[in-house]
Amino acid sequence: TADMLTDTFGRKHTYLRISLTERCNLRCLYCMPAEGIDLTPSEQLLTSREILHLAGLFADAGVTKIRLTGGEPTVKQDIEDVVASLASLPGITDVGLTSNGLALSRKLPRLQAAGMNLLNISLDTLRPERFEQMTRRKGHDRVLRSIQHAIDLGYDPVKVNVVVMRGVNDDEIADFVELTRNLPINVRFIEYMPFDGNVWSDTKMLPYRDMIRAVEACTPDRLQRLEDPRAEVAKNFRVPGFRGSVSFITSMTKAFCGNCNRLRIMADGNLKVCLFGANEVSLRDALRDGASDEDLRCIISAAVDRKKAAHAGMMTLSQTKNRAMIQIGG
Ligand code: GTP
Ligand code: 5AD
Ligand code: SF4
Repeated sequence: TADMLTDTFGRKHTYLRISLTERCNLRCLYCMPAEGIDLTPSEQLLTSREILHLAGLFADAGVTKIRLTGGEPTVKQDIEDVVASLASLPGITDVGLTSNGLALSRKLPRLQAAGMNLLNISLDTLRPERFEQMTRRKGHDRVLRSIQHAIDLGYDPVKVNVVVMRGVNDDEIADFVELTRNLPINVRFIEYMPFDGNVWSDTKMLPYRDMIRAVEACTPDRLQRLEDPRAEVAKNFRVPGFRGSVSFITSMTKAFCGNCNRLRIMADGNLKVCLFGANEVSLRDALRDGASDEDLRCIISAAVDRKKAAHAGMMTLSQTKNRAMIQIGG
């Protein structure tokens, strides 16, 4: 059934992102509207059993890496158990988490013991007052503590996601680069992307060419280009002599759809074959209607085959409908 994961352009989808919840303990400007979003009623969300059942099908078909997202995945009560079950699926070699770090530190040792080996933490500013402005909540110190805790537990690198917004936090690029001098972190500057309800505008997006110029301006030595692992979303660099690394995620100005290897399961059980667009199919409904595993494989395979060649970049501006980022989880 390797075919289930291969689309009409020959892309093999070996990386599954699962959104565990639509809830979050922050309200980031670039992710959701101030008033929040309407939450899906809980009986319409996948149960942990359903998640494991579906993940098992994907693992059997060739998925090797699973990343848990949200909302904020750590608000899910039984996340440690979910990680443990996913990590023990045959064929799964990597289980990752993308977290805002707010309530992560306390859970980290158990998550690590359960098999979580990849960790990405969002942090858009090093200034506490600005953190409150960007996330509409308090907790900057807790995020910093989570990052340090992850380093202490041996995560190397800890990926630190920085969504760069012009006029908001673009004056901190040098400070984030400086963090990579002594810490085993990979700071990733991310182009601001449009989603439903996040009031995107191209004037607020700092394009890759401006971001890299800002990094070069603060490093006396030339940036060293690192090799990018296959199908990675980031372009990777290092300041010579620095312990960590610096990357750019260029979804808007240099899209990387050609070697996309990702599929997504939303908290409500929809399979989403691309971050952008409204191309979704409900696996929850199929499951609850008594679909067999073979039926499910057919549904998944057909959805993967409907995946378009490209979606990202400036094409996102003319797309019909998508969800809010808070529901997609990145
Ligand atoms: P790893 O490669 O496993 O480290 O994960 P990741 O970088 O894909 O995951 P993360 O959740 O940290 O997301 C980082 C940024 O990449 C976010 O802004 C995501 O929205 C973006 N991103 C993730 N997947 C895709 C994708 O398929 N297409 C595009 N255009 N952007 C993506
Ligand atoms: N544009 C780019 N990246 C975003 N993220 C959330 N919203 C956006 C956006 N509008 C990032 C967060 C998080 C990851 C899952 O997605 O920083 O780290
Ligand atoms: Fe929450 Fe992450 Fe969205 Fe911020 S980006 S509101 S932390 S889900």
